[in-house]
Amino acid sequence: MKVLHTSFECYPVAKVGGLADVVGSLPSYQLNLEIDSNVIMPYYNNSYVKKQKLLSIYSGSINLGEKHFNYVIKKILSKKIKYSLYLVYIEGLLDREFVYGYDDEINRYLGFQLSVLDWINRNSLSFDVIHCHDHHTSLIPFMVNNCYDYSSLKKVSTIVTIHNAQYQGQFSHDYIKLIPDFDVKNVGLLDWYGSINPLAAGIKCASRVNTVSPSYMEELKEKANGLEGLLRSESNKCLGILNGIDISFWNTETDSMLVKNYKLSNVVSGKKANKKKICDTYGLNLDLPLFGFIGRLVGEKSADLLPQAIREVLEKNESINVMILGSGHKEIEEQLIVLKEKFKGKFNAHIGYDEKLSHLLYAGCDFLLMPSRVEPCGLNQMYSLRYGTIPIVRRTGGLKDTVIDIGDGGFGICHDQASVWDIKYSINRAAELYKDKKTFRKIQKQIMRIDNSWTKSAQEYMNLYKSI
Ligand code: ADP
Ligand code: GLC
Repeated sequence: MKVLHTSFECYPVAKVGGLADVVGSLPSYQLNLEIDSNVIMPYYNNSYVKKQKLLSIYSGSINLGEKHFNYVIKKILSKKIKYSLYLVYIEGLLDREFVYGYDDEINRYLGFQLSVLDWINRNSLSFDVIHCHDHHTSLIPFMVNNCYDYSSLKKVSTIVTIHNAQYQGQFSHDYIKLIPDFDVKNVGLLDWYGSINPLAAGIKCASRVNTVSPSYMEELKEKANGLEGLLRSESNKCLGILNGIDISFWNTETDSMLVKNYKLSNVVSGKKANKKKICDTYGLNLDLPLFGFIGRLVGEKSADLLPQAIREVLEKNESINVMILGSGHKEIEEQLIVLKEKFKGKFNAHIGYDEKLSHLLYAGCDFLLMPSRVEPCGLNQMYSLRYGTIPIVRRTGGLKDTVIDIGDGGFGICHDQASVWDIKYSINRAAELYKDKKTFRKIQKQIMRIDNSWTKSAQEYMNLYKSI
């Protein structure tokens, strides 16, 4: 079985969020199942790509409406990446430093997809499945089924994995000329409420559609930013497959980003050394429980509730520390900066993206906050479990599927509402748990043993591929 993952992110080449972690790690586990798993993504002009040895394997060209672009498929030659990883180089269109945030993103997404299909088509490459991740690549199922240029690819099966249905990539029908010719009577397959909607087209045209957790699929059928009816009507080809994590990379015994590696037998001293590094660097108190938050500072993550919740807790409760790592909405960033001044010694925040600090926080924190309003899967809670940090989550999407409350015989702290009150209540529960050292240590060890690796889910993807 030969599979090609198409994605705009893949760790370690380019990462904005969990999409990169998933596309970067699932293929390695698929190789273990003897799936010939490959990844293709844009060539970015970033420091990682610049350092790689690249082999140009094919040059071709595409037309995007009136414009003509040459593309080159380059293969990364790295012993560290086990699967074949290809980059699409298009001068002036894809070779930018960042993944998102450009005005011509419609052209970027389409230019990438057209180049991938042109490369497969002209070289008669025999992929059994093209696995498309999120809206950036989810016009591929429509195009293989309908565009005359790719008629020889009709037999290829396609999967669309929805990592986040909030973002659907809609654009106006004025851009229809960017899509290679097809029978106009099929234009309805592209349309959703008067726009070309790549995610909706992917749901309609892919052989199978999955979300990154079972609960998220059920939630989307009720509320999906306008796609709920479509997901209900296509439900016979839709399912949820929970993300996994790469446990050889997210490994406390070998993680080179930690100041001290540790395992079950020395978890207490190991976590303490990492916590000390955080506390020394950010002026926090080693003796108090440390609560961390890592993520995008956006409404989906309930990051807007954090400043008030933290302020109210710290005003009343002298005995906790909080450390935030993230960036996003400017107002939230500004509120956090104000809190840093007000609660020096108890609260700190690093505004920005810092992979190394994120690993240190997973290891050194006692609790990790994830009060998300929406969480299609969430990887942070799985990393934190593996690093012995107790997750505090809102019961939604993948958080609901991976964290069970201590009160229900589980190992985490869960709440139902995305509210300041719920977050405060959960923090106070955690602070009480921290005082009960025996139970706290027992849970720390229990969570490190949970297997959230890709092993089970990679098999579920295998079953999905086989079913088509
Ligand atoms: P999402 O993809 O919605 O942002 P996930 O929980 O799936 O959420 O994955 C987030 C990934 O991005 C994790 O690997 C997390 O450690 C990482 N991450 C998020 N924000 C930051 C940041 N500011 N610095 C470093 N890593 C971050
Ligand atoms: C998205 C979701 C997140 C999920 C990730 C990887 O970014 O927001 O919940 O874990 O994709 O699938």
